[in-house]
Amino acid sequence: MTIRGIHSPREGIASKLADITARQRLINSYDDWLLSEVDDDDVRIDLQSMAQEDERNLKLLETISLAHGVRVEPQKATLGHIDLARGILDGNEYSVLEKIAEYSLLKQMQVSCGRLVQLLIASMDKDIRMAVGPIAALNGDNETHVKKASTMMEAIGRYEIAGETEERGLWSRMKEAFASATMPVVGGLAKPVDDMPLTSVLVVDHRKVSALFKEILATEDVRLAQERFHQLYIDFHAHSLAEEKVLYETLRFRGGFAEIDHSYEEHEEARTLFDDIRSASPDSAKFKSMVSRLESLVSHHVDEEEDRLFPKIKERFSENELIVLSRRFKEEKMQAQESLALRSSRPRRDSSSSFMGSDRTTPGTFPQ
Ligand SMILES: [Fe+2]
Ligand SMILES: [Fe+2]
Repeated sequence: MTIRGIHSPREGIASKLADITARQRLINSYDDWLLSEVDDDDVRIDLQSMAQEDERNLKLLETISLAHGVRVEPQKATLGHIDLARGILDGNEYSVLEKIAEYSLLKQMQVSCGRLVQLLIASMDKDIRMAVGPIAALNGDNETHVKKASTMMEAIGRYEIAGETEERGLWSRMKEAFASATMPVVGGLAKPVDDMPLTSVLVVDHRKVSALFKEILATEDVRLAQERFHQLYIDFHAHSLAEEKVLYETLRFRGGFAEIDHSYEEHEEARTLFDDIRSASPDSAKFKSMVSRLESLVSHHVDEEEDRLFPKIKERFSENELIVLSRRFKEEKMQAQESLALRSSRPRRDSSSSFMGSDRTTPGTFPQ
């Protein structure tokens, strides 16, 4: 057996998340097909709720990837399997049972990969656990879906293989199957976190940034500090740029939020300090003292946002408005993350021995 360890833990988790997300997109298109095949109203209602859970879980995966902050493409093997599975879904030569079998396999793969991610992050750094932890909700849903898919196969198998001809029997068997698949699992599960209002999404980011600061300041391992600072740089910049573009601009437009000018200034001040730290050597005393200064500045800014600004926002904006803003924020943050990651992957202009001059394949290479 040849085992390939090609990733850093962060990239490894990002790679699994990319695979799960790509597979989830295909599953969602299977849901549309399933609905188009079913005539019975009760079964349709059941399938619709499963489709809604899948839809919500796709958004949840996008939110998790965004919070994790490391983006990679799905693996070739995953894309290959997705092509095959799509061929089965679209192929007229395949029976309904064969299509459902493929659907069931996709769901089982979601459960195995999702559980693996959940297991691996348990021993990883706190910021990863915070960003990726909500995958537990998706795993719970998918476990229920696997049960539903296998009972669906059984019901359709009786019709397709064993030659039962009465269609009403199929639907009633499927209804029973759904009920038994749902009952034992649903009780203990947390609901997936998605469509959170903007203020809640921002708080999740704030906690992650604070965890990264603690890790950098606590470690004596220079390489680890370098890697965490790289992640912190991406997270802070993507968050603050999206926050300005979506939240601050909206507050300016609405009026009555004069404190926003001060918030812009603090973002700017933090970015300048980030740039200063980038030019310092990570094993110097200056590096830690500057990170500590940055931490005070950012936590002061976060306290102001959470204690003064957010309560005022919650008074002036409806829950729905905040959900719409959170969707826009996620889009902006994703774009910012992509452009920061792109800039950090460009070949270096020089190879000096400073913090910024490390080899670009090492995690401590920064956007410039
Ligand atoms: Fe913020
Ligand atoms: Fe901010």
